[in-house]
Amino acid sequence: MVLEAISKNFFLFLSNNRLLDRLAKKWGPKFGADKIVGGVTFEEAVPLIQQLNHQGLQVTVDHLGEFVNSAKEARNRSQECMNTIRTISENGLNSEVSLKLTSLGLDINEDVVMENMEQILETAEKHDVIVTIDMEDSSRCERTLEIYKRLKTKYYNLGTVIQSYLYRSDSDLDELNECNPYLRLVKGAYKESGKVAFPDKSMVDDNLKHLIKKNLLNGHYTAIASHDDKIIDFTKKLAEEENISKDRFEFQMLYGMRNQTQLELAKEGYTVRVYLPYGDDWYGYFMRRMAERPANIAFAIKGVFSK
Ligand code: FDA
Repeated sequence: MVLEAISKNFFLFLSNNRLLDRLAKKWGPKFGADKIVGGVTFEEAVPLIQQLNHQGLQVTVDHLGEFVNSAKEARNRSQECMNTIRTISENGLNSEVSLKLTSLGLDINEDVVMENMEQILETAEKHDVIVTIDMEDSSRCERTLEIYKRLKTKYYNLGTVIQSYLYRSDSDLDELNECNPYLRLVKGAYKESGKVAFPDKSMVDDNLKHLIKKNLLNGHYTAIASHDDKIIDFTKKLAEEENISKDRFEFQMLYGMRNQTQLELAKEGYTVRVYLPYGDDWYGYFMRRMAERPANIAFAIKGVFSK
């Protein structure tokens, strides 16, 4: 338990190291990262998406990268995102897009991020592609949800994420209820203080179950993003008991994690979406996955992701 906490803190600390981040960009995905990242360019990821689609899995792609230093850089990221959406459409890929608001200028200026998001959503609407705003650390949660609510009044094709480790998430679900949200429910991946987040893992798990039930019973299509059998089994049982059909929710998992389970769920008739990150900014993503479960990476390195 103590070792687990130390290793989690260690990898989360490393995930924020900008020097290592810069070095990693030069190296390209290494140390097993290539098993959980779809490539450096989107073009490299296309055959992988085709293969996943062929196996009955849907996809959401994420161009890795969080922090930008200027409005110009944020606009470039936004252009890249629109190119990705066009390529998805041109290749007939069954894929949505996930993105982080910090990569579009959230920490620079709210006008910049709104302008970038509007352009992305116009393009996505034109090509019938759904966009989900990933949730970052708790200091950005309020701003992210405010932007989500504003954009959702104009664009149907927009989702975001709620993290069950935050105390606020239950009331966020109430606040979002009116805008018919498309939500991905997760446990949460960042290092948070006990002031804002449940310190106890079992409480995080219980809260995720609570949020899943609440959002589904509120009648909203829900993405349950977890590799945890207890969460998956809970959702299946709930759907049976409450007569919620399989087209009202989907399971989401990260690329390279629980591959066999992903395929089994798809065979059982559930929608399964694989979150496929790509780009040269793989370092922070890789470290957060290490923090969650170092075994993930040990498996990845050995290339034995059978279950
Ligand atoms: P958790 O790590 O709690 O593990 C619980 C149990 O599940 C383990 O004890 C083990 O039994 C099993 N398990 C977990 N991983 C396994 C594996 N690879 N193989 C076998 N068994 C395994 N976070 C965030 O803050 N913002 C976001 O926007 C997102 N977005 C997102 C999208 C998608 C598609 C996913 C899957 C996850 C996210 N996350 C996220 C990350 C999320 O918050 C969380 O940190 C991770 O999913 C880890 O939590 P789990 O519920 O998967 O299992």
